[in-house]
Amino acid sequence: MNPDLFPFPLLGQVSATLPAVEEAARGTLQTLGINLAYLVSAALFITGLRKMSHPRTARGGNLLSALGMLIAIVVTLGSHEIVSYWTIGAGLIVGSTIGATLAIRVQMTAMPQMVGMLNGFGGLASATVAFAEFLRVYFDTQRDPRIDTLISIGLSALIGTVTFTGSVTAYGKLQGWKLKGTPISNPLMLPQHHLLSVVLLLVCIGLGTVTTMDYSQGLWAIILLLVIASVLGVMAVIPIGGADMPVVISLLNSYSGLAAMTTGFALDNYCLIISGALVGASGIILTKIMCTAMNRSLLNVVAGGFGQEITAAGATTAAAGKTVRQMDAEEAVMVLESAQKVFIVPGYGMAVAQAQHTVAELAELLAKKGADVRFGIHPVAGRMPGHMNVLLAEANVPYERLSDLELNSEMEQCDVAMIIGANDVVNPAARHDRSSPIYGMPIFDVDKARTVMVSKRSLNPGFAGIENELFYLPNTVMLFGDAKKMMSAIVSELKSH
Ligand code: TAP
Repeated sequence: MNPDLFPFPLLGQVSATLPAVEEAARGTLQTLGINLAYLVSAALFITGLRKMSHPRTARGGNLLSALGMLIAIVVTLGSHEIVSYWTIGAGLIVGSTIGATLAIRVQMTAMPQMVGMLNGFGGLASATVAFAEFLRVYFDTQRDPRIDTLISIGLSALIGTVTFTGSVTAYGKLQGWKLKGTPISNPLMLPQHHLLSVVLLLVCIGLGTVTTMDYSQGLWAIILLLVIASVLGVMAVIPIGGADMPVVISLLNSYSGLAAMTTGFALDNYCLIISGALVGASGIILTKIMCTAMNRSLLNVVAGGFGQEITAAGATTAAAGKTVRQMDAEEAVMVLESAQKVFIVPGYGMAVAQAQHTVAELAELLAKKGADVRFGIHPVAGRMPGHMNVLLAEANVPYERLSDLELNSEMEQCDVAMIIGANDVVNPAARHDRSSPIYGMPIFDVDKARTVMVSKRSLNPGFAGIENELFYLPNTVMLFGDAKKMMSAIVSELKSH
């Protein structure tokens, strides 16, 4: 209705404002509905996380969290601020196709790299959204952005970019990339490395302040911030030795959550704020667990300069003149048959050999013969957090059989400690050799068992690149060969007895 045509001016004004009031009420209702749905999503995320703390409930927890994310996505897609569904649809199709292809194709042994890259993409997404949000306020002269929005944009651009380039560097280290023939998994320090990092960080903060104080002049500042933050991300990760990568990956995971959270503040999106905070907090908790498991200090990790003492993988070879005892499958079975307590410690080699099913079968056979069989799962065994748990769950090993380092309290009563493709996590040097890069890392004290059987292909070192004195102890016997072949041979021998 045209108000000018209305005979009574006041009523005309009322009639003109009515649609606006209706519109505003509709907008408020929609915002309320969206926020309520986000609240449901957040509750699902938190319940899901809680359930993920135990292997038995973890799958359900994962599903609940995924449902929370689905609700959040669908509700966000219903928002009135969406400009074009076509671009979102195209992004969803391309992103989902790439993500699904990578997830299906990735080898179990390359999981850490993939997790690292996923963190990186999370950071990149946050930085990109922050930059887009900045461009929106920069070019829209009608807008007068709040100061907290501008601060959040700067933080998101900084943390997101550091996460991205840091994760790419971590990916390169884990993937064995080389720079002029030298593996970048070796710690790399520039002259005055830490001082330079601090200066770069201060410059980024300065640029962020310029962007916040006068955003209409801040385009150059935010672009420069993105460039310098990219360098900072690389500098934060290059000094870290390959063996310390688990800590770095979980720390970058936490950073990606923080980046998402600050993006949530920039967009005024509660769901993003809550989910980002959850990722940030759980990432830092995992980092703390990893630090304890590897005897690193969290402060050193955050400063990004630890792990320099790590030797390059493969740098140490077996010392000459030491005696190594060896057994074949038949002899191993003779010892195993009389064992009452058998502790199995799997490691990265079990993942490489894909021996988990055969190992699970061996455990079942021994248990049927009356032995107390348990698995010792070290927090950093393998190449990603929970690596061994995933493999053993896939092979249907009952959770009751899994133990952590508490198993050490019973190690002296253990008849056979069976080490399958593990190395660093059972290296006694961690207990007494102060010069060792793994000194102080809690290990399974398998050397205290009556007999130690080590299934691996050679005397070669593990990830930390150091010799393992366990192989030369008088109570240790080596079962040389691929873990799956060796375990299959033992299983068939056991069955034939
Ligand atoms: P490692 O110390 O890496 O030792 C694995 C051993 O598996 C190697 O010595 C290798 O010896 C053996 N192996 C490889 N392929 C095999 C096969 N087909 N059959 C039998 N054995 C095989 O493993 P770990 O004890 O699990 O320790 C993990 C290490 O990785 C730690 O240093 C940890 O810090 C690091 N790390 C962990 C993570 C996470 S989050 N878990 C991530 C990155 C790095 P041969 O070559 O002689 O067979």
